[in-house]
Amino acid sequence: EPRVFSGIQPTGIPHLGNYLGALQSWVHLQEQYNTVLYSIADLHSITVPQDPSTLRASILDMAACLLACGINPAKSCIFQQSQVAEHAELAWILNCLTSMPRLRHLPQWKVKCQTQKNEGSAGLFTYPVLQAADILLYKSTHVPVGDDQVQHLELTQDTARLFNRIYGDFFPIPRGIMGTSKKIYSLRDPSSKMSKSDPQKLATVRLTDSPEEIVLKFRKAVTDFTSEVTYDPERRPGVSSLVAIHSAVTGLGTDIIVQQSRGMDTAQYKLTVADAVIQKLCPIREEMQRLQREQGYLREVLYQGAQRAKEMAAPVYDSVARLVGFR
Ligand code: TYM
Repeated sequence: EPRVFSGIQPTGIPHLGNYLGALQSWVHLQEQYNTVLYSIADLHSITVPQDPSTLRASILDMAACLLACGINPAKSCIFQQSQVAEHAELAWILNCLTSMPRLRHLPQWKVKCQTQKNEGSAGLFTYPVLQAADILLYKSTHVPVGDDQVQHLELTQDTARLFNRIYGDFFPIPRGIMGTSKKIYSLRDPSSKMSKSDPQKLATVRLTDSPEEIVLKFRKAVTDFTSEVTYDPERRPGVSSLVAIHSAVTGLGTDIIVQQSRGMDTAQYKLTVADAVIQKLCPIREEMQRLQREQGYLREVLYQGAQRAKEMAAPVYDSVARLVGFR
C-alpha cells in the first residue's frame, strides 16, 4: 500500500522555494494517494540554537500555512513530529546502524556546522538519521521533497536496506518525488538556494509577503548586464532563475516563457514575474491571515493529526522493537 510522507521545519514562514519545491506538490499528492502524512518537523528545528517562544509560534504558523496552501486535514494527516514519540525512538535504533563517516559527508552538516557557534551539536550531525526515521516509521513509499534533499533521501534508502539486511526484510525502499520546480535560488545571489535563514531581507520571498514587498524584491533581483530574457542557467544564472520561478508559478515551460517575453528588457520582465508570483501567493496570504486568528482550530487539527499518526506509527515501531530484540 503506497504511503506518502514529507516534512517541513517550523522555522518561520515558508518561502517560494519551499512552496515550489515541495508544498505545491504536497497538495496534488493528497488527491492521488489514500495515505498522506505531512509533519511539522519540530525535533529538527532544535538541532541549532533556538528560542522556545519563537518555536511555539512557528509551529502554529506552519500549520496555518499548510492549510492555506491547500493541504486538507480530511485527506492528509498534518501533525507535529515531537507529539509522536516513536520518531525519536526509531531514530535511536537507526543511529546505531549509521556510520559516522557516512554522515560526515552530507553537505548540510558541512555547511551548517560552520555557521554554528557551538560548532554543531550531535543532534545536527545525526539529523539525517532522524529524517530517515520520520519516513520509515510509516513504512512510507513516496517522499515529495525539493532537490536539496536528494542526499538525505539516499541515506534513508541505504538505512532501510541495511536494516532489512540485518533484521530481515521489513521496510519498503522509499522513492523521492521532486517538486514542480528544481531548486529555487536566492534573489540576491543566484548561486545559493533560497533559504529561510538568509540574513539578506531581499533574497527570500515569503508566502505572506505583501504585493509591494514582492515587487520590491523582484525589482532588486540580481541579474546581469544583458537586457534580453533568455534561459541559460550556466551563463546567465540570475535571469534564468527568474524564468524558472515564472515557469513554476505559471506551469508553462521555460521555452514558452522566453518566447512570450521577447522584446521585454529584464527590468520590465522582473515586474512580469513579480506579478505572476503575486497572483499565485495572494490567495494563500489572505487565507493564512484568516487562519492565524483561528488558533483553537489549528490546535485541534494538530491534535487530531497526532492521534492518527500515532495509530499508524505504533504497530510499525512495535514490529521494529521485536525485530531488534527488545520484545
Ligand atoms: P525544509 O524545512 O528545509 O524545507 C521544506 C521543503 O522545501 C524544500 N526546499 C526547497 N525546494 C526548492 N528550492 C529551495 N530553495 C528550497 N528550500 C527548501 C525542501 O527540499 C523540503 O522538501 N529536513 C527537512 C524536513 C524533514 C523532512 C522529513 C522532509 C524532516 N523530516 C522527512 C522529508 C521527509 C527540511 O529541513 O526541509
